Amino acid sequence: MKMRSVGIIGTGKYVPERVLTNADLEKMVDTNDEWIVSRTGIRERHIAAPEQATSDLAYEAAVRALKSAGMTADQLELIIVATITPDTSFPSTACILQDKLGAKHAAAFDLSAACSGFVYSMATANGFIQTGMYKNALIIGADTLSRITDYTDRNTCVLFGDGAGAVIVGEVPEGRGFLSFDLGAEGAGGDLLKLAAGGSRLPASEATVEGKQHYIYMNGREVFKFAVRVMGTATEEVLRKAGKTKEDIDLFVPHQANIRIIQSAMQRLDLPEERCVINVDKYANTSAASIPLALVEAAEEGRIKEGDTVLLVGFGGGLTWGASVLVW
Ligand code: UT7
Repeated sequence: MKMRSVGIIGTGKYVPERVLTNADLEKMVDTNDEWIVSRTGIRERHIAAPEQATSDLAYEAAVRALKSAGMTADQLELIIVATITPDTSFPSTACILQDKLGAKHAAAFDLSAACSGFVYSMATANGFIQTGMYKNALIIGADTLSRITDYTDRNTCVLFGDGAGAVIVGEVPEGRGFLSFDLGAEGAGGDLLKLAAGGSRLPASEATVEGKQHYIYMNGREVFKFAVRVMGTATEEVLRKAGKTKEDIDLFVPHQANIRIIQSAMQRLDLPEERCVINVDKYANTSAASIPLALVEAAEEGRIKEGDTVLLVGFGGGLTWGASVLVW
């Protein structure tokens, strides 16, 4: 069976209006701008308004992506929302979004792979479209990490922000679109980065609230080591699968968690920082939204031209990683 070529045919992004700066955080916990900038590269992050949930951020990004693809919501056949901060455990955020958009003909589900969720979702949609099961899909990485961040813990509260990035994927001419994916997981490292309570293992109770177990727990140093390692190995593997070398890549779009992780990866690959998208300074780590926010922003700024080869690579809770090479 001849597989269809699948690629990105529309893009959109959204970040909430409110900006939380390092100076604001200095008033909340024992930290300072110099520490945050030198250890992470982050200067500010956007925080959702109290009435905004993940589906609201996703909706804004989705509307823009549909417009850029020249499509209406009722033409959509599949919606995947990559998120670890769904509006509710169920219904899924994708179903809530399907209703908001009026995407009556779309199947809809959420995908949980933390910061790797967007690449996992694109790989999933690619499979559906390649085999002809669906013609198109709306893929959104959206997270409202501010809702699961402990703003009294300086180790984590400086790192995260809220946002959403969306793409429409569909059939593209041969030679364009996705060339390869590399997805992986190391479940043994799951305890290094997690939200302990609120699931079937540890349902919400007074004790879990008191124990702050509804907030992100992270062993930063261990996650850092994992990140630097898999950014390198996943990049090499996804290039090999695409039959490309690092010199063929016009733009790297890495997960925006920490500028030092991005710089270590670029050094390891011996590539100049100019070939890499960096916006962690403005948005901090937005989990599943991070890669699409960086990709869409780069496209909107004219940094990606038709025919360019782009490499996406991310890592996150699970532990997971995901990478893709695509021709724009
Ligand atoms: O999407 C995936 C999720 N996560 C990540 O990618 C994060 C990966 N990890 C990291 O980015 C880094 O490990 C961090 C940014 C989280 C931490 O940087 P680090 O260089 O590994 O610092 P550290 O944890 O070794 O802490 C160094 C010191 C500690 O003080 P002591 O124990 O040496 O006295 C911390 O208490 O820095 C202190 N510290 C802070 N000081 C001021 C930690 N957070 C802060 C803070 N302000 N916000």
